Amino acid sequence: MKKMIGLVGTNSDQSTNRQLIQFIQNHFTEQAEIEILEIRELPLFNKPSNQKLPHLVCKMAQKIEAADGVIISTPEYDHSVPAALINALNWLSYDVYPFVDKPVMITGASYGTLGSSRAQAHLRQILDSPELKARIMPSSEFLLSHSLQAFAEEGRLKDKEQVAKLEGLFADFMRFVELTKQLNHGHALNKKEAENFTWDES
Ligand SMILES: Cc1cc2nc3c(=O)[nH]c(=O)nc-3n(C[C@H](O)[C@H](O)[C@H](O)COP(=O)(O)O)c2cc1C
Repeated sequence: MKKMIGLVGTNSDQSTNRQLIQFIQNHFTEQAEIEILEIRELPLFNKPSNQKLPHLVCKMAQKIEAADGVIISTPEYDHSVPAALINALNWLSYDVYPFVDKPVMITGASYGTLGSSRAQAHLRQILDSPELKARIMPSSEFLLSHSLQAFAEEGRLKDKEQVAKLEGLFADFMRFVELTKQLNHGHALNKKEAENFTWDES
């Protein structure tokens, strides 16, 4: 059984992206064990002068490192990802590098019609940066629009077509995780490059 992390891309108490990750967790129990990680307790990133990371960051990094893959669901704030999500990714790319070569599937939900498409595009760019360097599943998007109306009371996604789309993407992601394991020839070097990379010198 694959072990996955479902990362809730917001610190909001009420979040349709959290509902989406919870739905994914419950719907795919036979394919994967998905642990949900929250980012709401993380402090605001500042470069720690003693290079000592908050305990919570270290714990999150270990869990991501140990997982076969990560599913991130992002809201869209001002055409990008929420500050809380980029904050979490800043922490998870500073002195810890759990995302290097990690398979990632991006999903998102928004109240409007576009389903957080612009935030998802940004998230791809962010995850491609030298200290994150994730393996983002290509040519795939799960855009949940009108997300406030999308879920039934018990947390089920109401629209069968959306469920079918998600099932297809998730099956692809399981395969992508397997394929990615074979793309490991540069992994040690990629990890080292991320560790040695610095923005502090030119
Ligand atoms: C500061 C702020 C900016 C927002 N900007 C956008 C936006 O650019 N595009 C959009 O579709 N929704 C925007 N929204 C609305 C929703 O937060 C957004 O649709 C979100 O994806 C809902 O996710 P959630 O239910 O997980 O909080 C914004 C909301 C806030 C509070």
